[in-house]
Amino acid sequence: MDETITSVLDEQRKFEPPHDAGANIPSFAAYRQWCRRFAEDADGTWRELAREHLQWQKPFTRVLNREHPPFFTWFEDGCLNVSENCLDRHVADGNGERTAIIWEGEPGDVRRISYRELLSEVCRAANALRQLGIEAGDRVVIYMPMIPEAAVAMLACTRIGAVHSVVFGAFSAQALRDRIEDAEAKLVITADGGWRRGAVHALKARVDQALYEGGRSVRHVLVVRRGGNEIDWQQGRDIDWQQALQVEPDACTPAMLGAEHPLFILYTSGSTGKPKGILHTTGGYLLWARLTMLWTFDFRPQQDVFWCTADIGWITGHTYSVYGPLACGGTTLMYEGVPTYPDAGRLWRICQDHRVSIFYTAPTAIRALIKAGDEWPRRYDLSSLRVLGTVGEPINPEAWMWYYTVIGRRRCPIVDTWWQTETGGHMIAPMPFATPTKPGSATLPLPGIDADVVDGNGLSIREGGGLLVIRQPWPSMLRGIWGDEQRYVDTYWRKFDGRYYFAGDGARRDEDGYCWIMGRVDDVLNVSGHRLGTMEIESALVSHAAVAEAAVVGRPDDLKGEAICAFVVLKAEASEALKQQLREHVAGEIGAIAKPDDIRFAEALPKTRSGKIMRRLLRDIAAGKRIAQDISTLEDSAVVSSLLSGEH
Ligand code: PRX
Repeated sequence: MDETITSVLDEQRKFEPPHDAGANIPSFAAYRQWCRRFAEDADGTWRELAREHLQWQKPFTRVLNREHPPFFTWFEDGCLNVSENCLDRHVADGNGERTAIIWEGEPGDVRRISYRELLSEVCRAANALRQLGIEAGDRVVIYMPMIPEAAVAMLACTRIGAVHSVVFGAFSAQALRDRIEDAEAKLVITADGGWRRGAVHALKARVDQALYEGGRSVRHVLVVRRGGNEIDWQQGRDIDWQQALQVEPDACTPAMLGAEHPLFILYTSGSTGKPKGILHTTGGYLLWARLTMLWTFDFRPQQDVFWCTADIGWITGHTYSVYGPLACGGTTLMYEGVPTYPDAGRLWRICQDHRVSIFYTAPTAIRALIKAGDEWPRRYDLSSLRVLGTVGEPINPEAWMWYYTVIGRRRCPIVDTWWQTETGGHMIAPMPFATPTKPGSATLPLPGIDADVVDGNGLSIREGGGLLVIRQPWPSMLRGIWGDEQRYVDTYWRKFDGRYYFAGDGARRDEDGYCWIMGRVDDVLNVSGHRLGTMEIESALVSHAAVAEAAVVGRPDDLKGEAICAFVVLKAEASEALKQQLREHVAGEIGAIAKPDDIRFAEALPKTRSGKIMRRLLRDIAAGKRIAQDISTLEDSAVVSSLLSGEH
């Protein structure tokens, strides 16, 4: 682990937040007051918020149970249902006709679904799941494009207490199978295909491939027809979603579930082994999804149209495309396709056409759109926008300034939100009408979040670089890693002897106490805001017959944030064709997002005398830096000379 945290960024600009007396947190003093309330009485404040913001079937009496750290539980004796909080509640409040989802398909087809319609659809789907023998606690894998049925499927699971695990549609059949097997899913919900870049990609065919040799736990596959692809129906196993829902009643009593009932598993990469199934539970997760919508985005459900561009295959899509906006009873927008299809104006046209008021995307998308030129956003009326958010990777100040001036026209506050799959929702971010912002800084922790920057011994660093930790449990924290309690303890809590949650990120704190996230300090890459483990890619490479050994590192990339660079020792003859083959092989094992950008063939990998691959050295070589470090501990310093000299 590389713990030398240095930063060359010296960004001095500061922007005062716009004033809006009607904001949910209307001033810095109001933000500070929330923080004070938590500092004085955390349990009492959480209790009050959970009572006020969620609808409980059975009220809880206990807030936080700390009896078995780091296995914390929240509101454990209360009962509630997520779909009831996201749907029935708003219909009962007289908002049944409000639009819950505005959806735009890539070809331009649009659907607007009211809360009443969404509730009926979710009930039908929940009944269909029950018909297929799905019970509370059973796992359901969702492998779908960004279509409303994906949200319906998630909510239908929550209605009956099934645990969903959404797998990003661009992951390969192999990656899908790994996840199905780890979760021991009983059902897969998929679609024939979805639109991307003007063509339909196949999903059902990949499910077939995944289940061909494995995934024995799966009894049924529900298939939504979206792309018009030919479907190879497997008799007895596969069921047509539309037909199955048609015959079901549109009412379904929401299951009464404990606040700690598992809500979903979402797989994410770590520095070792296969992706981990991050487990989130019902009450705490939903509370934070709703509160962060209201606080970080100043979401106002009666008036806002909220658009988070993330795919539901990622945590951002879970919390901010589906659960957060719906828990608030507001309107969420979903878009099926890519941001640059048919041209680089697509996102801005959607903002204009649907009067999007809060827009949330990743720095990598912003950088790609900057490159496309200012004429695209200038062509559209973006006056409906009032808050702009970013997530997933550090945003460089240039991209921040472009977002602020060209998209927000200096009217819209930028909220740079730091968080992770594990945290369930935002941890560090400005409050849009309260916190002064600095380009490139996620600013300050949210009220109730005890984030800190510490040194290797866990001592707080007032000003300077260190490791990011969270010192107190929070309601939407992960509850564990599916099927592997020990790994949860080792990955997040071992580093500081169980005292703090260790996020795996480096950060710097400036003189105002603002956090500047500097990226992962472990062997996890952040490629276009997507988290990938170097070890996963290495395993994929060495599973190819021509590869003897591989080491994967990141190198800075203007567009993607980080690019994937693989050093490969071959058993076979080197060739350009083999490089291409290896890239495709990795795509087949993991997915296209994991394809190495550079592959360098090497005679050997640089190792220390104890046999450890010298990753920092490889990172420097990949980045084209001059090698200043002492290489005398190398097993064979000739290896480095050859890596430096030969582009092989
Ligand atoms: O390194 C941090 C980076 O993304 C990691 C979490 O990835 P994932 O679990 O896939 O969730 C992404 C969306 C929440 C973090 O450990 N990261 C996330 N947000 C930011 C960030 N880095 C800098 N600034 C951010 N705003």
